Amino acid sequence: MTSNSESGTAVGGDTISFPADFLWGVATASYQIEGAVAEGGRTPSIWDTFSHTPGRTVNGDSGDIACDHYHRVGEDVALMAKLGLKAYRFSTSWSRIQPHGRGPVNPQGIGFYSRLVDELLANGIQPWVTLYHWDLPQELEDAGGWPNRDTAERFAEYAALTQAALGDRVKHWITLNEPWCTAYLGYGNGHHAPGRTDPADALAAAHHLMLGHGLAVRELRSDPAAQVGLTLNLHSLLPRTDSAADLDAVRRIDGVGNRVFLDPVLRGAYPQDVAADVAHLTDLSFVRAEDLAVTSEPLDFLGVNYYSRQVVSGPDGAGEPDSHSGAWPGSEQVQFHKRGLPVTQMGWEIDPAGLTALMSRVHEEYGPIPLYITENGCAYPAEVAADGSVADPERIDYIGRHLAECARMIADGIPLTGYFAWSLMDNFEWAWGYEKRFGLVYVDYATQVRTPKASASWYADVIRTNTLITSDGTGK
Ligand code: FCB
Repeated sequence: MTSNSESGTAVGGDTISFPADFLWGVATASYQIEGAVAEGGRTPSIWDTFSHTPGRTVNGDSGDIACDHYHRVGEDVALMAKLGLKAYRFSTSWSRIQPHGRGPVNPQGIGFYSRLVDELLANGIQPWVTLYHWDLPQELEDAGGWPNRDTAERFAEYAALTQAALGDRVKHWITLNEPWCTAYLGYGNGHHAPGRTDPADALAAAHHLMLGHGLAVRELRSDPAAQVGLTLNLHSLLPRTDSAADLDAVRRIDGVGNRVFLDPVLRGAYPQDVAADVAHLTDLSFVRAEDLAVTSEPLDFLGVNYYSRQVVSGPDGAGEPDSHSGAWPGSEQVQFHKRGLPVTQMGWEIDPAGLTALMSRVHEEYGPIPLYITENGCAYPAEVAADGSVADPERIDYIGRHLAECARMIADGIPLTGYFAWSLMDNFEWAWGYEKRFGLVYVDYATQVRTPKASASWYADVIRTNTLITSDGTGK
């Protein structure tokens, strides 16, 4: 075994140890777990409307009940405590806290999160609050949604109200989760709520999300102790060949998928090549010169969500339609390819090395900024055996291989400071409904009984020992 005393990791042999202060967590999102959609003064969000629109979600599933976490929060925090989690990343529901998307706080709504925060702290678990994980109050969508500039101002107000109520105890804030999805799936190809399909609106939404992010950062800075970040689902890309057309496909997808979010935040400018790629769709007049100073408010960390890698080519590549087809404004000609790697239940190819490639690139081009993996995980079908156990060896393998990559990154000097597994428990997987199970804990939706899968006790061991034990001794 070799060790790197500076970073505190050791790589090689059968065990990989992590730095003593490495932050181990799990992540969830409000609409995916809470249920209780009409309780405690909550009003509908765009996901309530969308999931109740026929044909939008698999089996017509909705988050009406989900994991009933709203009523089972004590039990769920007890589960987290059993796992030995150091941190829990959850999102707050805007329409629970500020039901009309503007105006006063709803005491019952904020009270729910306040109790959750207290429970977490009582169990020694750090609360990490994501302010927006896709559930815009329907009233704000009716007023124009994210393509409307005012939504950014509303978001900052909601951030300030939430912090005013929880900020005495919550010190870790993530403004937005995956604005790529909000903008391009919500307003571009319509696969997500609110289900609109206009690429110009999708680009306006992307900018207003970045603006709302920056305005919210300014509000959150009223607490000098607040640690503030943003979570992006960055795309780890490979060209199908090194032809000029395939390399240009990488440039385009990287531009509209990665740099259009990274650059305004970490460089204070939008990439010029993307402006040219989308010129036939919009003149970008929604971007005001003064906005870039807002979007680039300094951050304490960047969160990255990673699940898979993508291979792209130019239009002649005989590719397959991407599951996100129509989601890339200005890059409609780009094709996506599978490599025949093993896939998860989502059909996503498993490629842990893509995580290292991605994080190295972010660090080299956008560093130095502390980095967290704010989501990583996999869906597989699961069932409870007669003896009450749930075997999920694929998940242990998937997370283990990605953690081995994390340890390598740390040893290489990449400032990766924590890892949040997606997800604590099976939940409402958006348009895919309940069929896709990402949890460390199995949820029986008929009874709401939670049963930890084998991966839950495996992850608890990793956390307790701060060590990953690999099966073949290669760290893979
Ligand atoms: C991410 C989302 C999360 C979950 C996982 C599987 O894109 O942030 O809510 O759906 O994918």
